[in-house]
Amino acid sequence: MKSSKPSRNILLGITGGIAAYKCPDLVRRLREQGAQVHVVMTRGAREFITEQTLQAVSGLPVRSELWDHAAEAAMGHIELARWADEILIAPATADFIAQLAHGLAGDLLSTLCLATQAPVSIAPAMNQAMWAHPATQANVELLKRRGVRVLGPAAGEQACGDVGLGRMLEPLELAGYMLPVQRTDLLAGVKALVTAGPTRERIDPVRFITNRSSGKMGFAVAEALYAAGAEVVLVSGPVHLMTPAGIERMNVESAADMLAAVQSRIGDAQILVATAAVSDYCAANVASRKIKKSAASLSLELARTPDILATISANEKRPFLVGFAAETDDVERNALVKLAGKRLDMIAANKVGDGLAFDKDDNALTVYWNGGRQELCLCSKRDLAGQLVQLIAERYRATQSASA
Ligand SMILES: Cc1cc2nc3c(=O)[nH]c(=O)nc-3n(C[C@H](O)[C@H](O)[C@H](O)COP(=O)(O)O)c2cc1C
Repeated sequence: MKSSKPSRNILLGITGGIAAYKCPDLVRRLREQGAQVHVVMTRGAREFITEQTLQAVSGLPVRSELWDHAAEAAMGHIELARWADEILIAPATADFIAQLAHGLAGDLLSTLCLATQAPVSIAPAMNQAMWAHPATQANVELLKRRGVRVLGPAAGEQACGDVGLGRMLEPLELAGYMLPVQRTDLLAGVKALVTAGPTRERIDPVRFITNRSSGKMGFAVAEALYAAGAEVVLVSGPVHLMTPAGIERMNVESAADMLAAVQSRIGDAQILVATAAVSDYCAANVASRKIKKSAASLSLELARTPDILATISANEKRPFLVGFAAETDDVERNALVKLAGKRLDMIAANKVGDGLAFDKDDNALTVYWNGGRQELCLCSKRDLAGQLVQLIAERYRATQSASA
């Protein structure tokens, strides 16, 4: 895939949330992509981080006041609104989201958002109760309907000690969303199916078996396939990730659901990339009522779930099959067994556990195919997905010409 570092003007609006402390890193990540970043802060944001810091990392004057004669004379607020190719508000407070939803223009940043023609993205960051509040949710829905892109929030532990949805996405991930998709024709005309995330196997109405897969690798692969010109359907287990632009997403829960979704679309697909961490076992009998705490111990009988790759591989007409092997031990041996056993065209293997791979933003892979292997070194999952798709395209074209 061609690497592209387009020069774009990004106006980064910072509002008064604790996540503002991540903004210098965000500015750095955006500049690494070749973007010019002009920072505009609200008064609230200045309580959390200084203009000086952001000026130093962005290399451009930071603005925060509408009534600033010197700054207006240098670049008026309407000019600044026109300067921006894109606006990103990160973190976006509940207050700012409400201002934006209701068209208020009481300060510089909200005025710019009304005056701009540029696409606006927001990265909400707030306490989980503030995020869940019907007022915030209604404001976010209104903004989405108007075409504002909502990036996140993520779930996890919050600065206030609560746990839940409301964390700002990490700078690397946010910067990734700001990269324009430059499509190549590497896989033009090819239909690809990608599975991603974990599955959930129900035990009773309130409990389930799952795993630590975040879906990040699969979403990155789907995005990279799309960037390579393919038409992509993404079958995803339960994850908190935004669907990348241009991709059709099917949400599923269990391994059986995932197989059904894959089977419903596989007839069209020339490539299947199975990154999902599909549960190998499910409860043999799902209890219809919550299992009560009574006996001192409880045994759960498990049954095998369907093997999606093996099922598709057994089809007479099968697409180019790429599997993933996430292993704690004997990574290479396990990967090769899976490659041969399931008659895959390629397998991407990585070590997991000890804080590696799962739920991380970066990873490394070793890719194996019949007669070859290639190491893809530690880098962001996005970059890794780009390299993997390059390899997939090469191998896919090679098998096409071999069978022609
Ligand atoms: C210590 C502290 C942390 C705060 N963190 C957040 C936050 O993460 N998200 C949020 O929506 N509001 C947060 N607030 C409240 C906002 O700062 C407040 O609503 C403010 O009016 C936002 O102004 P702005 O949207 O113009 O920047 C916090 C307030 C304080 C005092």
